[in-house]
Amino acid sequence: MKTLRMIVNPNDKLSHINKEIYGNFSEHLGRCIYGGFYVGEDSDIPNTDGIRNDIIDAFRKIKRPVLRWPGGCFADEYHWKDGIGEKSARKKMVNTNWGGVTEDNSFGTHEFMRLCELIGCEPYIAGNVGSGTVQELSEWVEYMTFDGISPMAELRARNGHEKPWKVKYLGIGNENWGCGGNMEPEVYAGVYRRYQSFCKNYSGNELFRIACGPSGGDYNWTDVMMRKLKNEYGWMAKGLSLHFYSIKDWNNKGKAAEFDDKRYYELLAVAACVDPIIKHHKEIMDRYDPDNNVGLIVDEWGTWYDVEDGTNPGFLYQQNTMRDAMVAAISLDIFNKHSDRVIMANIAQAVNVLQAVILTEGEKMITTPTYHVFDLYKEHQDGTLIYSHCANEKIEGENLNVISQSVSMSGSGALHITLSNCSLTDSYEIKCGIIDTEIKSTSARILTGDAHDLNDFDHPDNVTVKPYEVKTEGGDLIVTLPPCSVVAVEVNA
Ligand code: AHR
Repeated sequence: MKTLRMIVNPNDKLSHINKEIYGNFSEHLGRCIYGGFYVGEDSDIPNTDGIRNDIIDAFRKIKRPVLRWPGGCFADEYHWKDGIGEKSARKKMVNTNWGGVTEDNSFGTHEFMRLCELIGCEPYIAGNVGSGTVQELSEWVEYMTFDGISPMAELRARNGHEKPWKVKYLGIGNENWGCGGNMEPEVYAGVYRRYQSFCKNYSGNELFRIACGPSGGDYNWTDVMMRKLKNEYGWMAKGLSLHFYSIKDWNNKGKAAEFDDKRYYELLAVAACVDPIIKHHKEIMDRYDPDNNVGLIVDEWGTWYDVEDGTNPGFLYQQNTMRDAMVAAISLDIFNKHSDRVIMANIAQAVNVLQAVILTEGEKMITTPTYHVFDLYKEHQDGTLIYSHCANEKIEGENLNVISQSVSMSGSGALHITLSNCSLTDSYEIKCGIIDTEIKSTSARILTGDAHDLNDFDHPDNVTVKPYEVKTEGGDLIVTLPPCSVVAVEVNA
C-alpha cells in the first residue's frame, strides 16, 4: 500500500460552501417526472398528492436543497398555463426534444411546488425564453408570487392555492446558444435584459435571476454576458449558468456499465476538466465583477452514456455504477474548491435520466452509487471550506489525480473530510496532519466496490454506504482508501 501525506489547516477558512451545490436538475424527459417523481393520486404506489413517498424520503435523507424544473430543453417549449387547472382539461403537447411523446401536463406548477415542499427544498424555475413571450414569463412570476388582487393571483386562488409561494431561483432561458433558440451571445444578452425587466419582485419575494451561461469551455459566451449584464443601476443577474457533461466522445459515448479500465480513467479525466474550465470562467467573471455579485451556477452536470438496450433513445435512461460515484466525488470536490464563485450545482438528472440518483421500475425504487456520494457529502452543505492539500499522484497516462478531497468545518466546529481514490488497483494510506488540532474522536463511512458495481431492482443494496474504521497515530489521522472508494470522516477536536 502506498502512503500519501495530506495537510489540513482549520485556521485557513476559504469560502462558504452553499448547500445549493448539492442540488438536482429534473426535466420532463423520459421517466424523470412521470413514473419517476409523479405517479398520480390514484396510483397504488404509496404517494402524497401523486408524488412517490419513497422518493420524497430518499431526497429528504440526502437533504436535497434545490430542484431545477421543468427543463432543460423542455423549458424553452413549456407553456406554464397548459399545466394548471383541472387536469382532464389541460392542454396536451408534443415533447419534441425527448422522444416526441405526448405530454399531458398533469404535472405542472402546483405539483412541482408541492414536490419541493415535501422534499423541503427550494424550487428553481427555468423560464421559457426560446418559444415563449415576455408576458408569459412575467405572468408566471405573478402567478407564483403575488399576494393580493391581480389576474394571476386570482387564477392561482381559483386553482386551489390562495397564498403565493416563495420562488427564489428563476432561470431566464436554458441553453439559449442551442435548443433554447440558437442565439448568438450578443443577441441573447439583449433578450435576457428585456425578459428580466418584467420578472418582478412581488409581495416580499426576491427573485434571484439567472442568465443562461456557457457550455463547457465557451469563454466568449461568458465574456459577452458579463459585459452586458450590468447597467448604471447594477447587475441584472445574480447567477450565470454553466453546463458541463462528462462525455469523452459524443459519437461513441459507450454504455454506463460496460467499459474497460482505459475508458474508466478517460471518463474520470474528462470529469476533472471542469476544474480548469471553472477556473477560466472565474477569471473572466473576476475581471468584470471583482466583488462577486454574480455567482456561477453549474445547473447541469454529470455523465451521459448511450441508453440502456431496449429503452427509448429519447428517454436517456442509463444505469449507474461506481464509476459514476467517482465522477460525482471528483465533481463535487471541484465545486467545493470553487465555492467562492460556484454557488449552486444541479446534477443531471434526478430520477431515471442520465446520472440519476434514483431509478424506478413500477413500484420498485433504488438509489444509485451516485446517490450514496451525495449522502456521504451532505455534511459539507453550508460548511466552511478549509484549506487542504494532498501530496497526490497522477494516474499513468491521464491528467487525473488519484486522490480527490474536500474538507469543511460545520457550525459546531466538526471537520468533515471526504476523500476518494480512483485507482482501480492500488490502495492508499492517507496520513493527514491537522494543524493546531488535537483529535478527540472520529467516525467514518465508506462507499467502495468494483468500478462496474451497481444497484439493480433485484440487488438494491449491492453498492451502499458502510461504517468504516479510521485511526489516529502520533496526532495524525490515518485513512486507508481501497481502490475505487469514497470515504467521509468526521473529526471532532
Ligand atoms: O439533460 C438533458 C439535456 O441536456 C437538457 O435538456 C439540456 O439543457 C442539455 O443539453
